[in-house]
Amino acid sequence: MDRYRPWLPVSDATPALSLGEGATPLVHLRRLGGQLGLTNLHVKIEGMNPTGSFKDRGMVVAVAKALEAGARSIICASTGNTSASAAAYGAAAGLEVVVVLPKGAIAIGKLLQALVASARVVAIDGNFDQALAVVRELAARDDHPITLVNSVNPHRLAGQKTAAFEICDDLGRAPDILAIPVGNAGNISAYWAGFTDYVMAGIVERRPRMLGFQAAGAAPIVLGHPVEQPDTIATAIRIGNPASWTLATEARDESGGRIEAVTDEEILAAYRDVVRLEGIFCEPSSAASLAGVAKLARAGELDQDALIVAVLTGNGLKDPHTAEAHAGASILDAAPTVDAVRAVLEW
Ligand code: F0G
Repeated sequence: MDRYRPWLPVSDATPALSLGEGATPLVHLRRLGGQLGLTNLHVKIEGMNPTGSFKDRGMVVAVAKALEAGARSIICASTGNTSASAAAYGAAAGLEVVVVLPKGAIAIGKLLQALVASARVVAIDGNFDQALAVVRELAARDDHPITLVNSVNPHRLAGQKTAAFEICDDLGRAPDILAIPVGNAGNISAYWAGFTDYVMAGIVERRPRMLGFQAAGAAPIVLGHPVEQPDTIATAIRIGNPASWTLATEARDESGGRIEAVTDEEILAAYRDVVRLEGIFCEPSSAASLAGVAKLARAGELDQDALIVAVLTGNGLKDPHTAEAHAGASILDAAPTVDAVRAVLEW
């Protein structure tokens, strides 16, 4: 909030709040890029934020503004990361935090982040879209004042713009292509707004083409209609009726970009490749951005030397079950002797 203060809806009346969010690494993927024939492929590692996802950029602004307005409680629906972030920033701000989640569909690390921070966790027998409808209605009622901190809260998107600023500041220009996973469609909209701010201020000349990727089983924007029962291994983006649908399609169209689907197999392949070849462990939903880039590169649809930034939205440690089931790693058991260890290593 301090670094990008002029761009944010904050004033001297806004309480100071920070867990050290932002300033995440931009890393050049030489090995994976080489395999794909791309010389200039980078990732923005948003899993390095304090609660392990990009949500912290927007949550810090939303919670500070809630404090400024005198709120005592905040509420959100979530596929996991928003709730982890709300729980952390709400704790730091001394607010009551209520999170409403789709039962059985949240990666265990994210659920524990909310629970250990003492958020009040309500699991509904329904999906994210239903949870969002419930919290929107609860926040709109007068009988129990509570501030909604989903990305329909404009302060969330304002804060998330800072990732686009950082990318431009690091590169000295905007990338040619920005690839990003799309769930509720807030983040792609926030990046687009951030790039637009920087062009309007004359800091960069052009905006990137925006390439958004949804999971094939949860691809309402690609299909052009809501999906009643979204399903994908990428639980963070298991969303059938995105709140920022229109903003996302505007970003796509104004940038000459695309929003496409990637299958769970493609997502899992990218999820494994980026850690095996580059040492970067992201969560499955995050890998949708790289899966999409890989697919378009293999189809010959990307310039070999295009400056590409793929956003890795969340940390792989959040979802150990998917890692265990799909990363293919196995443990070699051995007795505690040199010979036994040599034997299992086949030395
Ligand atoms: N990647 C991750 C890791 C996410 O957690 C999300 C969204 C997205 C991508 C998609 O971003 O919704 O702005 O299009 N997670 C939300 C949540 C829905 O509740 O944590 P989006």
